Amino acid sequence: MLLKKITFILLCLAIFVSCSKKNNKETSMDTISTKVDSLLNIMTLQEKIGQMNQYNGFWDVTGPTPKEGNAEAKYQHLKSGMVGSMLNVVGAEENKKIQQIVVEETRLGIPLIIGFDVIHGYKTLSPIPLAESASWDLKAIENSAKVAASEASASGINWTFAPMVDISRDARWGRVMEGAGEDPYLGSLIAKARINGFQGKDLSAKNSIAACAKHFAGYGFIESGREYNGVDMSNSFLHNLVLPPFKAAADADVKTFMNAFNDFNGIPATGNKMLQRDILKGKWNYKGFVISDWASIKEMVSHGYAKDGEAATKYAVNAGSDMDMESYLYVNHIETLVKNGEVKEELIDNAVKRILTVKYELGLFEDPYKYCDTEREKSVVGSKKNHEAVLDMAKKSIVLLKNENQLLPLKKQGLNIAVIGPLANDKHSPLGSWRGKAEDNSAVSLLEGLNAYTGNKITHSKGVKLVEGTPNFINEVKINYTDKTGFSQAIASAKNKDVVIMVLGEHGFQSGEARSRTNLNLPGLQQELLEEIYKVNKNIVLVLMNGRPLTINWADENLPAIVEAWHLGTESGNAIAQVLYGDYNPSGKLPMTFPRSVGQVPIYYNYKNTGRPEPDGDLVFWSHYTDEANTPLYEFGYGLSYTTFEYSDVKLSSKEINSSNNKIEVTVKLTNTGKYEGKEIVQLYIRDLFASTTRPVKELKDFKMVNLKPNESKSVSFTISEKTLEFYSANKKWEAEPGEFSLFIGGSSNTNLKENFTLNR
Ligand code: NOJ
Repeated sequence: MLLKKITFILLCLAIFVSCSKKNNKETSMDTISTKVDSLLNIMTLQEKIGQMNQYNGFWDVTGPTPKEGNAEAKYQHLKSGMVGSMLNVVGAEENKKIQQIVVEETRLGIPLIIGFDVIHGYKTLSPIPLAESASWDLKAIENSAKVAASEASASGINWTFAPMVDISRDARWGRVMEGAGEDPYLGSLIAKARINGFQGKDLSAKNSIAACAKHFAGYGFIESGREYNGVDMSNSFLHNLVLPPFKAAADADVKTFMNAFNDFNGIPATGNKMLQRDILKGKWNYKGFVISDWASIKEMVSHGYAKDGEAATKYAVNAGSDMDMESYLYVNHIETLVKNGEVKEELIDNAVKRILTVKYELGLFEDPYKYCDTEREKSVVGSKKNHEAVLDMAKKSIVLLKNENQLLPLKKQGLNIAVIGPLANDKHSPLGSWRGKAEDNSAVSLLEGLNAYTGNKITHSKGVKLVEGTPNFINEVKINYTDKTGFSQAIASAKNKDVVIMVLGEHGFQSGEARSRTNLNLPGLQQELLEEIYKVNKNIVLVLMNGRPLTINWADENLPAIVEAWHLGTESGNAIAQVLYGDYNPSGKLPMTFPRSVGQVPIYYNYKNTGRPEPDGDLVFWSHYTDEANTPLYEFGYGLSYTTFEYSDVKLSSKEINSSNNKIEVTVKLTNTGKYEGKEIVQLYIRDLFASTTRPVKELKDFKMVNLKPNESKSVSFTISEKTLEFYSANKKWEAEPGEFSLFIGGSSNTNLKENFTLNR
């Protein structure tokens, strides 16, 4: 009885606490809304338009820099309240100066929101987002975003243009490095983790920054993987594959969205009302603001959609693009459009309200200089703690692709090792493509990481140059195809060595924005070098550094060990060395399918069956290639460990979900059958066998990370409810349809451990 009473009191207390928490949040949102309304009331139309205008930096705030074409105009606009946001102004001091102009010199003193592409770190870099996603470790990913926010917010930045939540199945597209891979479920969880990391629990805290879910929408499915190309997709495809991570971002209260460069079903995303007004701000009731992508409003003219800048402005505002990034159009055309009645002033008010709300939530009105504390900048940026965090993230991001005869981990003593390849001692490339304010050549190279272990004898040779010069973000990367002068030294160094570590892949600037490729092989002369080395020493560990899946069939067929090390950021070399030496047992799983051939792209695990999925005797009439298998080289969810795991005893609490039984508990026994302690990512997939629209052969629905000592077993369980079975159906809504389902459990999407169940209503 006493126990019951205590439970009751605790329950009341819990309800009271949760209600008062909710009320606090609601009250503070009410207060902000009142403040925004009062401010809006006293703003002129020009001042409102100013809030919708964002300029790029490159700004000498002691005065206009003449070499920047329109710097004088930008400066005048800042002083007259015609700028609501800046991007690419970095450093606490610079940002304070620019903030001072608007706060002290404009009539209303509305602070700027200052954005920057803090994609996988500000100065101390985590792995590229695709690599982090291979960890499937949501806590680590959240923490990585938190570290990035701590450094950016100490350097004057209060808004990042991240996370990119575009799902993509096309490794030719260079920007796959910036996303979470091919799966909408994993992508949604990662989107949420990143947003929570950037924005923290309290956006007004000095180390939180506003996040931005981008690029709304469809950008990951640009035709042929060619950057900035168009997108054409069905409604079912849009809802089932593209939108879920965006919806998850909106639900996670991401403060901003960015639209996209691409044409979407005939209407550029930036001017697409269906996407922005109907779905995002309508159906989802999203309250944050939408920024255009860089000059994407102006680009609607090149798309052949808007006849000129004025028309582009009209389409963009009416469609729901609240802020203009670098098109210089809103500032020039909105006033006329409002006066002509082509854009309603209430739409302008709505956009400005959204922008001001985020500024209030960031606490910028209380203290516009809160992110401009040079002392904090000095102590936080590059701190030991941040280096430790990115090292941890880097280790978790590595995927072991092959390890025959347990070549790895390497012994720490007595080995003679040749380290060969253009990326072995590269301190620039592991920083990846988006690298914030990281200094050139500031990553720990793999050679440096290996040299921290002193028990083995290491010789290093580059073998071949991968690129010419020191590539950067804005220029085309020049590849070397002819210079083989380094081959002979590398071949000689490989002879008679116990092990050769070949470090090959893509330069950090060979993936990322505007880095589409028609080939997914090892660029330049690397494959040739690899095969030459193999002739003299077969004991090769291939360490790959790359920003996208590559076609490495030859390596997979011939080499004993392959480690996928992506572009791992500042601590890259230390992380890889710790994995190679077994101080960290790899547990990453691929977030994106590796094809055998570029001709298979787009290739993905959640494909549909077709009407002819299998051969019929000797007949040729089935869905296949005549010159390559249908299967990928490495499937989504794949990744090895130094230990081995066995799955057994799958049990279902029931074979049916119905009106009296609303869920099924599935359990599986996982045993560590190898010699090392290790982590496994146990994955649950479901197939809806028949539905109102055709469904994929498998869809990831849940996963658990399990750590086991050798010989240890654990029972891992999942819950399946009607919610788990929902999809965007022929009825144009998310629903589960009664019928038969299969579930699959295992360590990759290729698992065959299967059970069936039904949903009956
Ligand atoms: C263009 C990119 O598409 C976008 O993702 C980025 O945030 C902006 N440039 C700003 O740098």
